[in-house]
Amino acid sequence: MGKMKPLQIMETVLRDGHQSLAATRMRMSDMIEMLEKLDDIGYFSIEAWGGATFDTCLRFLNEDPWERLRILKSHLKKTPIQMLLRGQNVLGYKHYADDVVSEFVKRAVDNGVGVLRIFDAFNDVRNLETAMKACKAAGGHAQGAIVYTISPYHNKESFVKVGKELVQLGADSICIKDMSGLLSPYNAYDLVKALKAEIDKPIHLHTHYTSGMASMTYLKAIEAGVDIVDCALSPFALGTSQPATEAIVAALEGQERDTGIKKEVLYPIADHFREVKKSLAADFKLNTAIDINTKVLTFQIPGGMLSNLLNQLKEQGMADKYSELLDEMPRVRADLGYPPLVTPSSQICGTMATYNVMCGERYKIVPTEVKDIIRGKYGRTPKEIDPEFRKKVLGSDDHITYRPADDLEPQMEALTKELAEKGYPNATVEDVLSYALFPEVALAFFEKNR
Ligand code: CO
Repeated sequence: MGKMKPLQIMETVLRDGHQSLAATRMRMSDMIEMLEKLDDIGYFSIEAWGGATFDTCLRFLNEDPWERLRILKSHLKKTPIQMLLRGQNVLGYKHYADDVVSEFVKRAVDNGVGVLRIFDAFNDVRNLETAMKACKAAGGHAQGAIVYTISPYHNKESFVKVGKELVQLGADSICIKDMSGLLSPYNAYDLVKALKAEIDKPIHLHTHYTSGMASMTYLKAIEAGVDIVDCALSPFALGTSQPATEAIVAALEGQERDTGIKKEVLYPIADHFREVKKSLAADFKLNTAIDINTKVLTFQIPGGMLSNLLNQLKEQGMADKYSELLDEMPRVRADLGYPPLVTPSSQICGTMATYNVMCGERYKIVPTEVKDIIRGKYGRTPKEIDPEFRKKVLGSDDHITYRPADDLEPQMEALTKELAEKGYPNATVEDVLSYALFPEVALAFFEKNR
């Protein structure tokens, strides 16, 4: 055994930190003063784009996300900018044609993204192929993500298998993506050990504090040899966000996985973001103090969604059905082939369970999205869907087994034409991509900024 390498950190304060605690409302003006200081820290990468930031920029902040990326890049000269991409869904909620996915990835890299973390809600790696290939072709670092979940159809071996498939697709590093803090410290230790034994690429761990275990999970993963972990500077850490950067740096000081980062250098930056958090809370009327909730381990529903479901029932005067709903969620998830509960599958399962409970009859009303999962239109589910169940819901056994995007004709040319007809003949390719992902929101943004 050689000397252990220093632990590396991805800083999430500019993306997942405020997406988790401040509804993704951080503005360019809140970030800009700190960018050069952040660039000097020596992070593996700074996550600053993708996820919900793109939609929020256009919809709520009147910022062009592409312009934001270029400004970020002009200040972050040494540290790669990292983004989160939902495979064939790009940053939206449906499957896009390959030409949209490829062009989006290419433009993201051209405008400044260095590392792309690419995932699929079902871990169907066919949904990552196009994005991974485009990322490599554009010269970006392609990070393939294994979505972590707990179910009878997921275990260490199945996650390692996904990891190996991602390496085959050309992944430069592998991320374990634990969206709601389900990964326990000892399971993290075992999973990281297994991945390190089988995969000769850096292993990157992403988790959330949701259940309250995240720092312990990191420590065990660090002992198992994880290469990179995601942390947020303290004002945007904990709660439903990541462990705090300063605390992880301090915990390893003088130890064999010492990050080499001086915690004192982080303090003034953290102080700045403490003020930013206050101003976001005031300007957007946000509750940024979100408690951890270990119930997520029992119900596997992120805390925010639990309260949404309860509110839905209350509005219908059915608050007394709440515990029935909590029992129904896992049954629906089982019927739908045990998808990990991440956007969009979490919302889809939640809505289906709510209908089942409210109607008093299961699958009496079935939303299109649920039918599409059953038809294979989101990809391969972890457990195969029972043909009897499929017949019951769809009335037939119709379903696809090929990659869902194989059905989609190229879209870029038609979208460009459409946008010209709507009065934007000089739209840039980036504008067309914004329009492809969020048509109404992008048009309203263009209108406001003519
Ligand atoms: Co996250």
